[in-house]
Amino acid sequence: MTSRTSQELAELEREAVEAIEAADSLPRLLEARSQVLGRKGTITESLRGIGAADPADRARLGRELNLAKQRIEARFADRRAALEAGARERELREHRLDVTLPGTGLRSGHLHPVTQLEREMVAFFTGLGFSIEDGPQVETDYNNFEALNFPPDHPARDMQDTFYVEGGNLLRTHTSPVQIRAMQRLEPPFRFVVTGRVYRHDFGPRSSPMFHQIEGVMVDERTSFGDLKGILYAFARQLFGARVDLRFRASYFPFTEPSAEFDVTCPNCAGAGCGTCSQSGWIEWGGCGMVHPRVLENCQIDAERYQGFAFGMGIDRAAMIRFGLPSIHVLFEPDARILEQI
Ligand code: PHE
Repeated sequence: MTSRTSQELAELEREAVEAIEAADSLPRLLEARSQVLGRKGTITESLRGIGAADPADRARLGRELNLAKQRIEARFADRRAALEAGARERELREHRLDVTLPGTGLRSGHLHPVTQLEREMVAFFTGLGFSIEDGPQVETDYNNFEALNFPPDHPARDMQDTFYVEGGNLLRTHTSPVQIRAMQRLEPPFRFVVTGRVYRHDFGPRSSPMFHQIEGVMVDERTSFGDLKGILYAFARQLFGARVDLRFRASYFPFTEPSAEFDVTCPNCAGAGCGTCSQSGWIEWGGCGMVHPRVLENCQIDAERYQGFAFGMGIDRAAMIRFGLPSIHVLFEPDARILEQI
C-alpha cells in the first residue's frame, strides 16, 4: 500500500466527518464510525499501512493519521451525545406525564344495599329483645305448607308459585317455615326474627323469582294484635322516617287468624300519589296476623294458654321504597356502578 498524501488524508477525514454529521440515528452513526475507524475502516487500514510507507514519510503520516483519528473520534462523540439527547427529548415530549393530574385513589367496597337494610332491620328487632332464627332454603313440604295449616289440597298453596326440587322438597316460598322450626324448639314466651332468601315462580317489575323476607313472631300469654300494630308502626318509622303511615287491610293466610296485609305510605310522594306508588299513595309491604292455634299446636305449644302474632315482609320491597327504585331487578344487577348509586 502506498502511503497517503496529506491531501488524501484531509479528503478521507472530510468524508468521515460528513458521514458522521449526516447520521440521523445511533445505528447509522455507529455504521459511519466503523467505516472509518472499524477493523476494516479507512483510517485503521491507513494506520496499519504506515510500516510499509516510505521511511521518510512515516513520521508525518503517523502524526497526521493520529490527529485525524482524534478529531474524528471527537466529532463522533459529539454527534453521539447530540443524537442521544434528541432521542431523550423526543421521548419526554411524546410520553408526557402530567404530575399535576389528580390520582385515581383507592376505592373501598361496601355491603349490598339489601344486606345493609337487612342488618338495619334485624338491629331494630334485636333492640326489642327479639332473637335471631335461621333455616334452610330447601325445605320440606311439611314446614313450608302443612305445619303452617295448608292442608295437601288447600287452594292457598296456589297463591305461592312453588319451585319443587327432586325428592319432594321445595325451595321455601316464604320465611314462615322457620316459624315451625323455631317454635318446635323454643318454650314460650319467646320472640324472634328470621331473614333470608325465598323463591317463587314469579317475575315482574316488583317481583323476582328470588327475593328476601324478614319475618317475626312473638308468643306470650297476652300478646295482642295491638302489640303487632305498635311494633310495625315503630319499625316502619324507623326505616322510612317519622312521617310514614301504615294501612292494614283484612286478608287471609292459613297460618294466621285474623290476618291482614299492610301497606306503607309512599315515601316518595308522602301519600299524595306518584309514579312510584301507581298514583295510589300506598305501597304494599307485607302480611301479618295472630298465629293460628293449629300452628301453635303443631309445635306442641298450648294454644289455650299462649297466643302470638307473626308478620313477614319483603326486604327488597323495603329497599325499593327506601331508595325509590323503579324495579326490584335493579338490586340484582351484577354491576357495581348501579349498586353504588343506591
Ligand atoms: N309468609 C307470608 C307471605 O310470604 C307473610 C306472612 C308472614 C303473613 C307472617 C302472616 C304472618 O306471604
